[in-house]
This record gives sequence, C-alpha cells and structure tokens, in this order.
Amino acid sequence: MKFFIDTANLDQIREANALGILDGVTTNPSLMAKEGITGEANIINHYKAICEIVDGDVSAEVISTDFEGMVREGEALAALHPNIVVKVPMIVDGLKAISYFSRKGIRTNCTLVFSAGQAILAAKAGATYLSPFIGRIDDSSWDGMDLIGQIANIYSIQGYETQILAASIRNPLHIVKSAELGADVVTCPLSAIMGLFKHPLTDIGLAQFLADHKKANG
Ligand code: G3P
Repeated sequence: MKFFIDTANLDQIREANALGILDGVTTNPSLMAKEGITGEANIINHYKAICEIVDGDVSAEVISTDFEGMVREGEALAALHPNIVVKVPMIVDGLKAISYFSRKGIRTNCTLVFSAGQAILAAKAGATYLSPFIGRIDDSSWDGMDLIGQIANIYSIQGYETQILAASIRNPLHIVKSAELGADVVTCPLSAIMGLFKHPLTDIGLAQFLADHKKANG
C-alpha cells in the first residue's frame, strides 16, 4: 500500500518524506487555502515546489466544474511535471473529463467519492486513482471503511485497474483498516502517519533497555 500525505504544507511534506516511506502527495483547494497559497501563479509554483520535494505522484485539483474548463486546467497542470495527477470531482462533467484525460494518457484522481456506484463510474472512465472520503462518511454516521471494502471487492471481481486511494483519513486506525481491506493507497495527514509509531510497550521497552545498558556499563 502506497503512503501519500494529504497536505499542502511544505514542512510537513518534507518531514513525511524524511521518513523514507512517502510515495506521493494529495492536495485540494481547501488545503492550498489553509496554507495561504492563493492566485494562479502562486498555486502553480507551489505544485512545482511539492514536486521538487517528493519523488512520487502529486495530485493537483481542478477548480472548474465544466468539461472544457477541467480539460484546459488539467492539461496545464499535467504539463507542469510528469508526477502531476489531475484531481477531478465526481460529477457528470468530471467523469467526461476523466475519460478524456484517460484517452490522452493524463493520469487522474477522481475525488469526492462517497458510493460504490461512483467508484464503478470512475473505473469505467479510466481514472488512475479513486478517492473515497472515509472520514467524511464516518462524520455522517455511516462506516467509511465499509465503502473501502465494498469497492475493493467490486474492483477485484471486475478486474478494474483504478487504484483505491483511501482519503479523508483522520487517524492511524483508518490507515491500518485501509491496508486490511485492500486499499492501494492511503493519503493521510502527518498526525495519522506519526500515530502509527505509538505503542506504550515500545517506549517502556526502550527505556528498560537503555536503563539496563547504563547499569551494566556505567
Ligand atoms: O483527501 C481528501 C481530504 O483532504 C479530505 O479530508 O479531513 O477534509 O475530510 P477531510
């Protein structure tokens, strides 16, 4: 399972990359705005900066909601760097744009996915990645992990090549469950990745080892 970081914060991207396990980055307009990245030129430069830090796929989201606009934006984004993946929302014109990009060999990430039906459409259109939003499903008292399992099952039965990119991850358990259920990728905030390290017995065991070494060696 690939690990992406879900942020536009360059320091956090560097920190995750330094762990040696980072396979890519996902961003969205909210994450860019959170970092104060505004205006087309700054946004473009920010994507380039991310691509310089991480040797892996970087999702850059279109803002247009009509087919022509998405194609125009997506082609410009894809031309920025070979690692750019064009992120397109799961709407009617978005699906048409994904089909178009697929025929052109431009890789896509179909975002804002909340159902198996949407997952089937995206796979049929040739999306490279599919982003079901686990955390937001949990927020509405449905089980986001159930959707990951359902999509993984459908994709396996049907032989779809679209990769399941579990998104809107909120905690380390979402990462572990995604791995269990067959997600191809998880995109996580840095806090969820760092949460994977945590176990009190690791800390207690290490403290004991160091104490024993000190006692024996002075
Ligand atoms: O990858 C999608 C993600 O950014 C959404 O996460 O936490 O805003 O639901 P969240």
